[in-house]
Amino acid sequence: MQDKIVQLLYNAADYVSGQQISDSLGVSRQAVNKAVKSLREKGFEIDSVTNKGYMLKSTPTYLCAEAIQCHLNTKIIGKSITVLDTVGSTNDYLKELGAKGAEAGTVVIAREQTAGKGRLGRVWQTKKDDGIALSLLLRPELAPSEISAITPLSGLALCRAINDFCMLDSRIKWPNDVIVGKKKLVGILTEMSAEFDKVEFTVTGIGINVEHTVFPEEIAHKATSILLETGRHIDQNKFVATVLNYLEQELVMNRYRLNGQTVNDYQTLCASIGRQVTFTRGKRKISGMGVSINNNGELEVMLSNGTVATVNSGEVTVQGIY
Ligand code: BTN
Repeated sequence: MQDKIVQLLYNAADYVSGQQISDSLGVSRQAVNKAVKSLREKGFEIDSVTNKGYMLKSTPTYLCAEAIQCHLNTKIIGKSITVLDTVGSTNDYLKELGAKGAEAGTVVIAREQTAGKGRLGRVWQTKKDDGIALSLLLRPELAPSEISAITPLSGLALCRAINDFCMLDSRIKWPNDVIVGKKKLVGILTEMSAEFDKVEFTVTGIGINVEHTVFPEEIAHKATSILLETGRHIDQNKFVATVLNYLEQELVMNRYRLNGQTVNDYQTLCASIGRQVTFTRGKRKISGMGVSINNNGELEVMLSNGTVATVNSGEVTVQGIY
């Protein structure tokens, strides 16, 4: 109910009376008073004037589910949002919820992760309020072999959200990093729970560097943040809502698949195309020119002998980036 009250007040041009709120939500006046009180405790500034009602003056600056939800225009993604102060890994937490039947579109966000996971067994650090750690649960009706579009479509959504909201020129480093210039701003890790021929659910974890001004020494040369790139502190709730709106557009509206249009869009934003890339086959390192992405989200690389190699996983370095 609190999210609905925030939404009502957010969209209203004037004060909204307690009676109007209780009528439109079908709850008692007492329940409205109680909800307003707990919203204030969460950091919402809500003015109240006798005979006029309530007006929303400001939303909290820290991540908060109700403040995200009032900017959402999605049908599936973000219907349920949980913001945790701290957690080991949002992906692990959400996988547990998924196993217990959490609905498609459930989002878990943490202000801090103590055991955040990156790709290839790496660690992903999220210190309190420095970065956004977000995981999204989906239940696509696909075979396990068909979910390879989820990470590229998520990358596309992130790139669009960042460029739109932060006015940056971010690009995608195949398969799952969003970069600005030569440095990484976002990492994506998709995990899945599946039976032999049917996906039960996927969890896509997204780590975004937001407020960092310094990074651990080992990644300092290749990591950046929204603050470092723009010199501005963003409204994290509005930003997360923008990300979720774009995720709905790219993932749900495209039914979790790449098509001619999204492949084109991805290629336009992909920094690995038109550049020398190096990948590993067995123990061999192979270099070539990144030329395209196919409908499975795989990178096609033109080798010096004129043949095209298809790369679908692992580590790919891009010349001039990292
Ligand atoms: C990578 O670039 O290696 C992927 C990083 C993915 C990090 C995110 S943060 C939210 C979610 N929870 C995790 O433990 N990992 C992902």
